[in-house]
Amino acid sequence: MSTATIGTAVPRVEGIDKLTGRARYAADFHPEGMAYGYGVYSTISRGRVVSIDTEQAQQMPGVIEIFHHDNFPELHRSPASFPEENMVDELRTPFEDDVVHYAGQFVAFVVAETFEQARNAAYRVRVDYDAESAAATLADGRARGTTEANRNERGDADAGFSSAEVTVDATYTTPVETHNPMELHATTAYWRDGRLVVHESTQGVIFARNTLAKNFDLDPSQIEIHADFIGSGFGGKLWLWPHCLATCAASRELGRPVQFMLPRQYMFTTSGHRPETSQHLRLGATRQGVLTSIMHESINSTSSINTFVEACGGSTASLYACDNLRVTHATAVVDRGTPTPMRAPGAGVGLFALESAMDELAIALDMDPLALRRKNFTEVDPDGGKPFSSNHMLECYDRAAERFGWADRDPAIGSMRDGDEILGWGLAACNWDAMRNPCDARVTLRPDGSATVHCATQDIGTGTYTIIAQTAADTLGIDIDRVHVAIGDSTFPHGQISGGSWATASILPAVIGACKAASDRLIEYAVKDGAPMAGANGDDLIYEAGVVKNGQGDQASAKAILKPLSLPSAVGDFHSDGATEPGYSYGSFGVHFVEIGWAPDIARLRARRVVSAVDAGAIINDRTARNQVEGAIVMGLGSALFEATEYDERTARPVNNNYAEYLVPVNADMPDLDVILLDHPDYKLNELGARGIGEIGLTGIQAAVANAVHHATGKRIRDLPIMLDKLMETS
Ligand code: MOS
Repeated sequence: MSTATIGTAVPRVEGIDKLTGRARYAADFHPEGMAYGYGVYSTISRGRVVSIDTEQAQQMPGVIEIFHHDNFPELHRSPASFPEENMVDELRTPFEDDVVHYAGQFVAFVVAETFEQARNAAYRVRVDYDAESAAATLADGRARGTTEANRNERGDADAGFSSAEVTVDATYTTPVETHNPMELHATTAYWRDGRLVVHESTQGVIFARNTLAKNFDLDPSQIEIHADFIGSGFGGKLWLWPHCLATCAASRELGRPVQFMLPRQYMFTTSGHRPETSQHLRLGATRQGVLTSIMHESINSTSSINTFVEACGGSTASLYACDNLRVTHATAVVDRGTPTPMRAPGAGVGLFALESAMDELAIALDMDPLALRRKNFTEVDPDGGKPFSSNHMLECYDRAAERFGWADRDPAIGSMRDGDEILGWGLAACNWDAMRNPCDARVTLRPDGSATVHCATQDIGTGTYTIIAQTAADTLGIDIDRVHVAIGDSTFPHGQISGGSWATASILPAVIGACKAASDRLIEYAVKDGAPMAGANGDDLIYEAGVVKNGQGDQASAKAILKPLSLPSAVGDFHSDGATEPGYSYGSFGVHFVEIGWAPDIARLRARRVVSAVDAGAIINDRTARNQVEGAIVMGLGSALFEATEYDERTARPVNNNYAEYLVPVNADMPDLDVILLDHPDYKLNELGARGIGEIGLTGIQAAVANAVHHATGKRIRDLPIMLDKLMETS
């Protein structure tokens, strides 16, 4: 009998592969005869390509072909349907016409024998443009006009606001943030007997397959997407981008494998970003701090290619009890590439606004900001009126506050010190939807006592390999090192994207079901003629810890059952329909407490301590789950203090498009991180009670920092990131 692994801190099962370099990523595959693609990218942000001169480039050594809108094969557009699992955020296919929508858009695609030759030739392609003036910022886009995307209203928000005894009315703005996974976007593609085989760095092998099936008018069964390992994605690798289509098309035209890597600087243009937002918050409350109105009106930048809505007010509708609410989302077109989900899309920047406004309200009420949040806690989701399946927000508040020492806070601004540093203490709630979707899995039991799990999902670095192995090992009662996890292949049973924080909740029920189906199959085999329990009634047998047992003390291993029948394995398939218990609203909850240090003499701002408590249901693996929240906090500190993609206002081109100038936190920026995982199972969501934990840690952290900065400095920074210049302004 093996020891149960669920809930423990099992190390990553693929860790050794990654450490030793055995783990292969999309660009590590080099099929025989492979050529290399390199892009030529628009230098204007709006207009047309007038002419492309490839003459000199064609003469360069090793050049095979140069594709552009005059000679590129016609592709079909994906309908971009989430229910049909073929989403794209850039609706346009590459090179479909001569129109330029953004700087960094592909205008040509060079294929050569080596990467260096392709790049060298790309530099010699001459493109003439007819440029129009471009909208570089959300403000420029708003000057052209805005379009409302959706609204969510209950009660009478205007009346609730005008009759409130205390109000806050403020606008918060957040910049473009760019996904910067360590691994660049990459595609290695080839065609074999009419089949398209693609190694892609993707968060969704099934979505990638379905999208390419539309683009190339193939049956999905004619396409294989492989993504054994992914160097993270953060949402930027959920849907396919033009480079993948271009690479697959070039490979088909040339009859050779083609590989493409998107250089870091173009990951700032043609593979999505979190859009710029402007969020107008109005809160009304009674003198006692009971919310009487919440209005959250958000506008985000989108592209001329597609409308992307950053749902900033999604959490706002559910987080606090309040009868009167208005949440609206609108977009304005700027001349940039199309935005895409970035870790905790919506709430990731929406809670910066809401939770900053809550802090401003607490100050206006002369009330402790934690007490204000407790006062407006709700066990029923006010957006729809269903009770939450499981909501331990109050315990998060209690435990994190105690660990942090919140009771010792002196609310007076600038009143707390440690040596030369003024300390600021701030807090903010965090929140994310808990979702579950359909998923299939297959489990194969072999005579050697091992089990293989097949599922067309993937591990983007979050621990999916490990938690699948744990779940199969515990369900089958075998050691985890007897379980092989086969994912990252679209030909496996239909799996889920690594997104929305729903992979864990969706995949593991399918794994459990497939384990049971496989052990049931083993029992069926055990009673067949020639098998060890021939003639017995299968209903009298049980499977336990790798063996089939009867009530008389006899048992038979997989080997003993399969060998006499000459069978290779016992296979079980399972389809989980993804259904949750009806009548409930599902979410995860938590809180961040942040201590910042502000040294005014040397203008140094740093995060010193973060204590977070997260209620995300049952924790399957304490190590990988904790790593997700810690990583999200680091990313949130980046969003709070450093990250912003800056655009040249004259050209709408991103200027800090590299790791040197796009600032992200490094080790020296790290505070002490203390993450409390509550571990209360939510059995209404699934039989493990596990929700999901990839995104919630990012939400709210910027507000907790901004609130701490206000406590230390008296400056209310409503525009991210909180750069030093904003603290040094004297107004
Ligand atoms: Mo997440 S933004 O759903 O990868």
